Amino acid sequence: MMMVTKRVEFCAAHKLALMNYDEKKNYEIFGKCSKGRGHGHNYVLDVTIGGKIDPITGMVYDMKALKRLLNTEIVDKLDHRDLNDSEGFLQGQVPTTENLAVAIWKALEEKVNPMKLIEVKIWETANNSVTYRGE
Ligand code: NI
Repeated sequence: MMMVTKRVEFCAAHKLALMNYDEKKNYEIFGKCSKGRGHGHNYVLDVTIGGKIDPITGMVYDMKALKRLLNTEIVDKLDHRDLNDSEGFLQGQVPTTENLAVAIWKALEEKVNPMKLIEVKIWETANNSVTYRGE
């Protein structure tokens, strides 16, 4: 199998806190992402899909099509949004990068057909990333 990765970026706001915990407890669990009314991150998303090389084109997948898919399904829905919005992409789950990675996986899994979704990696900062490869 050959794998290809496309990177897209989006900016979104979040606040990490559980409603039934007080500020101190939330800070212990979520650190500074729990503070105040929320803050933004410049998220970098790397999506890897896999398949066979097409013998005619020499490509696995049209990267322009993959870019369009990621823009339509992910960036348009997340860019400049509040990830805590219960109506939004995360349906009110705690907007950790882990939960975001699972939600992105679910949004893309069927759509990359006939390719296979291999990995969703999200960089929340230059030093912190999460990687999801399905169940
Ligand atoms: Ni944060």
